Amino acid sequence: MHKRVHDIICRCEEITEREIRGAIRQFNLRTADEVKRLTRAGMGLCQGRTCALLVEKIISEETNRKVSEIFPSSTRPPVRPIKIEFLAKKEEKES
Ligand code: FES
Repeated sequence: MHKRVHDIICRCEEITEREIRGAIRQFNLRTADEVKRLTRAGMGLCQGRTCALLVEKIISEETNRKVSEIFPSSTRPPVRPIKIEFLAKKEEKES
């Protein structure tokens, strides 16, 4: 089946909105991780940076829950940077 560009939610894996909604309904998916495992949306090169919020929004619509109630997918890059003091202390010890 030819995929229409404007339907694509996950650009890395070329997963359409229709595929995501279909999987959620068919398998009664509740989390972004479940959607990811079944459809591959979020498994691409950008690791979901482009599509994760859209996927969560779709899950929220399909399951009648707020986006804040949807578990984000687990492979998002860490948000907290390492404290600079931590690195400094490590260096002190080494010298
Ligand atoms: S757009 Fe979905 S993983 Fe990159």
